[in-house]
Amino acid sequence: MLPEHSVQIVRWRTQAPVLRVIRTAVFIQEQQVPEELEWDEFDAVSVHALAFDIAGQPVGAARLLPDGHIGRMAVLKQWRGKGFGSALLRALLQELRQRQQKKAMLNAQTYAVAFYEKFGFKVCSGEFMEAGIPHVQMELFLE
Ligand SMILES: CC(C)(COP(=O)(O)OP(=O)(O)OC[C@H]1O[C@@H](n2cnc3c(N)ncnc32)[C@H](O)[C@@H]1OP(=O)(O)O)[C@@H](O)C(=O)NCCC(=O)NCCS
Repeated sequence: MLPEHSVQIVRWRTQAPVLRVIRTAVFIQEQQVPEELEWDEFDAVSVHALAFDIAGQPVGAARLLPDGHIGRMAVLKQWRGKGFGSALLRALLQELRQRQQKKAMLNAQTYAVAFYEKFGFKVCSGEFMEAGIPHVQMELFLE
């Protein structure tokens, strides 16, 4: 049995099928993001995080681009509000700290701004559209 919020840092090369299942359910099926926008060349060069429930089932995913942008944060609908999104974000912030990066950045869907604010992220742009969804840019200076 795994801990309650288990997160592994993984690579697209080996875990693409699992990462695809989660992001297909959340972004393509639930949020109606067009497939051609969901999959891009950055997946192969990003570090990915996968969250597992205590039975070892994958329930969430996120990625960290080489330039330090966090993105594609996705927790399966029935698993939200249980701390998996926070665990994914913590794992990627830890990865950034290990790289001695001074700043984390992300484009947040406006409805999720309060989630990132809990971690200290601040909005640093006006609203813009991405994949047909309103977003703002957010940043967090790392200690
Ligand atoms: C955004 C998302 C990743 C959060 O994951 P989650 O597993 O539900 O988050 P957690 O359970 O760790 O929540 C942590 C805290 O943030 C709060 N929170 C979560 N989503 C929130 C939201 N959309 N707005 C405001 N607060 C939110 C939770 O209530 C919780 O608060 P608490 O610490 O006071 O209990 C998840 O809702 C998701 O996958 N959404 C769909 C995909 C998406 O839109 N991703 C991109 C967002 S930019």
